[in-house]
Amino acid sequence: MKNTLFFILLWPCVAFSQFTQIKIVKEVRTKDKGLIVSAHPLASEAGALMLRKQGNAFDAAVATQLALAVVYPQAGNLGGGGFLVATKTNGEKFTLDYRETAPSKAYRDMYLDKKGNADTDLSQNGRLAVGVPGSVAGFFATLKHCKLPMKVLIQPAIELAQKGFAITDREASLLNREMPSFERHNKIQTVFQRKSKWKKGDILIQKDLAETLKRIQKEGAEGFYQGETARLIVAEMKRGNGIIEMGDLKNYRVIERKPIMFNYKENEILSMPLPSSGGILLAQMLKMSSFENLGNHRHNSPVAVQIMVEAERRAFADRAEYMGDPHFIEDRTQMLISDDYLKKRWKSFDRNWATPSAAVGKITKQPEESTETTHISILDREGNAVAVTTTLNGLYGSKVVVAGAGFFLNNEMDDFSIKPGVPNMFGAVGGEANSVQPGKRMLSSMTPTIVLKNGKPFIIVGTPGGTTIPTSVFQSIVNIVDFGLNAADAVNSPKFHHQWLPEGVLVERTFPEKTIESLIKKNYSFVKTEQIGRTELIVIDEKGVATAIADSRGDDSVGLE
Ligand code: DON
Repeated sequence: MKNTLFFILLWPCVAFSQFTQIKIVKEVRTKDKGLIVSAHPLASEAGALMLRKQGNAFDAAVATQLALAVVYPQAGNLGGGGFLVATKTNGEKFTLDYRETAPSKAYRDMYLDKKGNADTDLSQNGRLAVGVPGSVAGFFATLKHCKLPMKVLIQPAIELAQKGFAITDREASLLNREMPSFERHNKIQTVFQRKSKWKKGDILIQKDLAETLKRIQKEGAEGFYQGETARLIVAEMKRGNGIIEMGDLKNYRVIERKPIMFNYKENEILSMPLPSSGGILLAQMLKMSSFENLGNHRHNSPVAVQIMVEAERRAFADRAEYMGDPHFIEDRTQMLISDDYLKKRWKSFDRNWATPSAAVGKITKQPEESTETTHISILDREGNAVAVTTTLNGLYGSKVVVAGAGFFLNNEMDDFSIKPGVPNMFGAVGGEANSVQPGKRMLSSMTPTIVLKNGKPFIIVGTPGGTTIPTSVFQSIVNIVDFGLNAADAVNSPKFHHQWLPEGVLVERTFPEKTIESLIKKNYSFVKTEQIGRTELIVIDEKGVATAIADSRGDDSVGLE
């Protein structure tokens, strides 16, 4: 895209009134300013505001996540968890793991009925589905890299909650759709429920949430994990079958981890290690497809798609067998991403025919596919890069709002393998490696990723989408590196996804029919879906010009310093 788009500074002119002007910006190019791209224009603007206050990418990351917890309640959160991958101009490369943990009273068979059958309603909806939230601890762990104090970073979120903001058409229709489940899972009326239908432009004011944010502003992480907010969370647990106790909250810890790092062509890739499967899957898929050199093929052509699907099949079979929280299982990352192992794995690739899934992994049971999470990509003027993916798991998580505190709680427990072979809400199967154990982190697919070229940030990328996350990130990277697509096309062109089980390849409705027809002849099957993911991407060219793209599939928007 040739034209440079300029962002209109909304914040100062609306600081004293409700936030009724929502301006979505899909693409921005700049050389000397910081950029941020997130799922909601008001959240991107909160981050951009911090960049203008001389904050860095970490300040923007914290302010944006906090604002998302207000303006994007379907996935932005205080009651969920996330992962942050970062590279700093001083050479530091690190990740922060603020994934939820299983409460201390959790146990392996907690979602099985008397006959031993898995009850996915329990792991997906209501209080028993909730893992101990990590997000707020994650914001405070990020603070050590920030320039601005939490008092400043949290202020936009407080104002948005207190004064209210105009909801988008998409948010209105999701709130309307989920109303019955809010009613089913809340004993005390929430601000998200009302008699008439929500519509675009309605103002959502969240007074309880504003008070929760003010307690964090005043008391720090303890203002969430101890005291009034913790008491309200535990009281909410007791309104049903919840098991999170005060001690679980007080004991929650963020873990700083080394990123998973590997080379792809002339690029160095940094992504999230276990307990996310994302980085391992990405490394496996890129390395296996490099055996066939995707650069020799056209984007979304039958050959390219076949190679990528077969790499996805083998990687997801390994996910089911080997991956989980590395504190509880043997960490086989280095073996799984080694060239020797992957070359052996690739031997069964056959250009003329689909490899049956049973040939690349042990199938316990045939699962079904089903399908909120949100990603933020940030580059500041100094060159610090941050990729954050954060989630409640499902749309509005467990659907339970903490009464008196005003935020949704996650349903992340469903990301455990609640019974070997029983698929989670994204159709992913697992076994012992990802079984429920107290204090354990459930396996994730979130893949916040930074690609470096000559040691400098080249691509900052991530997306929501459950198991489709690693495959979407995989596609975004090869779209740029191998197929030469520009940044906008790399995000917005039709996507596909395969995850070993089920056998079918998921494709967006706009996916080329010719490719589908050609692959059906090789025994592939396809399932159409409305959309795969919402990718937030920043690409920096050799002259240092950065282009930020907000996925056209949602209300996603770019903020400029
Ligand atoms: O951690 C994970 O992999 C999932 N809880 C992510 C869920 C997700 O992306 C939902 N978004 N559509």
